[in-house]
Amino acid sequence: MSQDRGDRVGHRLDGRLVALGVTGSIAAYKSVELLRLLEAEGAEVQVLLTPTATRFVAPLTLEALSGRPVESDVMALLADGRIGHIVVADSVDVMVVAPATAQWLGAMANGLAADVVTAACLATSAPVVVAPAMDGEMYGHPATRANVARLRDGFGYAIVEPESGPLASGQTGVGRLAELGRIVDAVVAAIGSRPVRAPGPELRLPRIAERPREADLDGRHIVVTAGGTREAIDPVRFIGNRSSGRMGAAIAAAALDRGARVSLIAGSVDVPLPAGAEITRIESTAELEAALAGLLGTGGSRRAGFDALIMAAAVADFRPRHLATTKLSRGSAMSLDLEPTPDLLAGAVATARELRPVPVIVGFAAETGSLARAVEKLQRKGVDLLVANDVSEPGSGFGTETNRVTLLAADGPAEGWPLLTKREVADRLLDRLAGLLDGRDAAAQTGASEVPQESRS
Ligand code: CTP
Repeated sequence: MSQDRGDRVGHRLDGRLVALGVTGSIAAYKSVELLRLLEAEGAEVQVLLTPTATRFVAPLTLEALSGRPVESDVMALLADGRIGHIVVADSVDVMVVAPATAQWLGAMANGLAADVVTAACLATSAPVVVAPAMDGEMYGHPATRANVARLRDGFGYAIVEPESGPLASGQTGVGRLAELGRIVDAVVAAIGSRPVRAPGPELRLPRIAERPREADLDGRHIVVTAGGTREAIDPVRFIGNRSSGRMGAAIAAAALDRGARVSLIAGSVDVPLPAGAEITRIESTAELEAALAGLLGTGGSRRAGFDALIMAAAVADFRPRHLATTKLSRGSAMSLDLEPTPDLLAGAVATARELRPVPVIVGFAAETGSLARAVEKLQRKGVDLLVANDVSEPGSGFGTETNRVTLLAADGPAEGWPLLTKREVADRLLDRLAGLLDGRDAAAQTGASEVPQESRS
């Protein structure tokens, strides 16, 4: 949420996984600050330490700050049997070695993989950034110069040259680790516009076990729609869309993990649907409308049978006015007569207003280009929350593992979230939803309006 990001200087590394290799120089203490700067740009950081680096900076410090176990033993296997430095090499978007000692430059220049940092650099096809730090005489020695030249010219590594200034020896000279902002800039430049290499957490090193989210949706009934609708033209053809159902399935799985009862209404999807959800399969907008009507109820009881509706499905906007009952054969030309579909979300909001307690309704808005239309959609549809994303942006939208969304709320400012996995988007969305539901219940207890948003009136 926006508070999490208040101290960020930018989002240049949103969604990126950066390996930070630290070698045994006195400047190793600066790696702690470098890690924080990389995170401030939106990166997740995986730290690799050489054995000597562990004498300058405590692994525990870097583990606590990065949220990931530090890799420091080239012979160690992960708990699941994978080789740690190979998983790092295969999953990171960039490797940065800072500080890089004369010893490490020599080992790297010769491909001697006795430590995790050299081993991961040898094994990766990600770009590598190297920031040397050492005594001035050592940096000027022809051996060091030759090693640096080999890394830069032979391997294509980006070298962030050290700076001139007071050194640990008490002397002054060229050898101080470059200013950390320059190293971050070099990391950003090295990635350029490359696609995210391993967006799925299963391809990365595990994080230190996260505190399980509370079962804050225990006792709640959440309805989620997912996937695309298909509108039949004839018995074999249909008009469909590119929705994979990933976002809706992620929301359903996250809600189940938080203790909710989940009804999942799924159209066409290319992902497995979470076990534990009560699944209704639909194909067309009309079938989705009928399934929603079943849940919302029409007339009769004003008691809501669910607490929230999350409309992640990509619903057709148009459908053939007439369905051909036999397969259409190829003619010289053909035109389809399309009619608009009903806006199911707007209809659900209208029905929900009559229910008690009033369910919270969440919509999605897939846009291409500006998100300005999403603001208008939030108001027009009368939803409590609208998750808007630009589906034309790399890493966002249909079929991707990740999403960069803006959350619009009827009762507050818009929040731009960084590039996140769809599961992370789901969890952040459910954080907001849980808060809205708690607020609704608290208001009901104190006798205040049960309608959570002013805009509903
Ligand atoms: N939606 C719906 N019924 C429709 C079309 C869309 O319920 N016939 C829902 C979607 O599930 C989504 C939200 O409305 O939660 C926004 O969908 P989107 O396609 O972005 O908006 P539209 O209503 O189609 O508006 P526009 O055509 O102006 O983009």
